[in-house]
Amino acid sequence: MKSTIPEASLEEFFRLNEIFNHSKVKHPPKSVNLHNYFSETMIDKIKELIGEAEVFTTESKESLDAFRIKFISKKGLINEIFAEFKNVPNEQKKDFGQAINTLKKTVEEKIKTLQENFESKEEIKGIYGDLTRPGTPIPVGARHPISLVKNQVINIFSNIGFNVSEGPEIEDDWHNFEALNFPEHHPARDMQDTFFVQMNPDHLLRTHTSSVQVRYMENNQPPIRTISPGRVFRNEAISSRSHCIFHQVEGLYIDKDVSFADLKQTLLYFTKEMFGKSKIRLRPSYFPFTEPSAEVDVYWGLKTETDYRITKGTGWLEIMGCGMVDPNVLKASNIDPEEYSGFAFGMGLERMAMLLYQIGDIRMYFENDVRFLEQFKSNF
Ligand code: DAH
Repeated sequence: MKSTIPEASLEEFFRLNEIFNHSKVKHPPKSVNLHNYFSETMIDKIKELIGEAEVFTTESKESLDAFRIKFISKKGLINEIFAEFKNVPNEQKKDFGQAINTLKKTVEEKIKTLQENFESKEEIKGIYGDLTRPGTPIPVGARHPISLVKNQVINIFSNIGFNVSEGPEIEDDWHNFEALNFPEHHPARDMQDTFFVQMNPDHLLRTHTSSVQVRYMENNQPPIRTISPGRVFRNEAISSRSHCIFHQVEGLYIDKDVSFADLKQTLLYFTKEMFGKSKIRLRPSYFPFTEPSAEVDVYWGLKTETDYRITKGTGWLEIMGCGMVDPNVLKASNIDPEEYSGFAFGMGLERMAMLLYQIGDIRMYFENDVRFLEQFKSNF
C-alpha cells in the first residue's frame, strides 16, 4: 500500500523520533498506513512520557529545573508535540489531544508538588536555621557561696535528725529579745545594734536567727531538733569584715535529759563534717538565752601563711556561739524546764564561706559581681 503521508511528514516523523530521545520507534512497516502508524506511535510515546513524569522525583532544584525545561520550556517536548497536532489524522486527533493534555497536566502538577516540597523544607530551614551549625551554649548559673554553705550545713544536720525551720525577717521585740531573756533596758541588747522599723510597739529587723527558736517552741512540743537558716540585720559600719546584712544558722535541740556532753558531741560531729577538722574547744562566754554559754573554736592548724593570717597566729578559729537553753527561755515558750532541757547554737554563714572559699572581703557577697559569682560553678 502506498504511503498516504507526504515526504515532508516522514522527515518530520524521524525528527520527532529524535525528540523522543533514543526512541525505540523503528521504520514503520511498509504495509501500514504510515499516517495512522505515525500518530499511534506518537500517542504511545506520549503515554510513556506521562509514566516518566509520574514517577519523577528529585531532591535537587537543578534536576527539577532540567525536568521543567525538558517538558514545558519554549523548545520543550510538549510544545514540539503540540506542533505536530496539525499532522495528526482527524480520527486520531481526539486521542492525541487527550494524551498530550494529560502529559501537560501531569508535568505541571509534578513541578508544583516538588516545588512546594522544596519551599516547605526551606521554611523549616528558616525556622530552625542551619541544623548542622554548632549549638548556642546554654549559660550555666552558679549557686551563691552563701547558699552553698547553707545547704552544706542543712545536709550535715539533717543527717542527725534536724529539720529546717524559718521565721520572719521583720520581728517584734518579744521574739527577738524579750522571750530570749533579754529584759527591757538590759545592756545585752546593745550587743546587737538594731534597726527598728517602728518603736512602741517595737518592730525591728531581726538581729539574729535566735528569734526562730522562740517561734518554733511556740508551735511545737519537744522533742525538738531544728535548724533555722536566715538573713539577719545589724546597724553596723560596713567593712571588709562586717556588714549590716548577713546570714546565720540557728540550732535548737530540746528533749528530756539533754546535757552539755550532747552539745559538745554534736559540735564535734559538725566541725568534722564541715571542715574536716576534729579538734574543737569551748570558751566560756555570755548569751542571755543560754546558761552556761560558750564560743566554739575549731583548731585550723598553722601549716600555711593563710592559716597564720586567719587565726591571727593562734591556729584557733572561732566559728559559733552555743550553750544550754536558759530555763527562762523554755518557760517563756511554755516548756517546763523541770522536764526538758536542751542546747542551742548559732553560726555565721558569711564567715564560714570566707574560710572555705578563701574570700577576703565580706562585701563581695552582696555586690552581685558575676565575675565573683561565676567562680562557684563547680560547686553544688
Ligand atoms: N544569736 C547569737 C548571735 O547572733 C548567736 C548564738 C549564740 C545563738 C549562742 C545561739 C546560742 O543559739 O546558743 O550572736
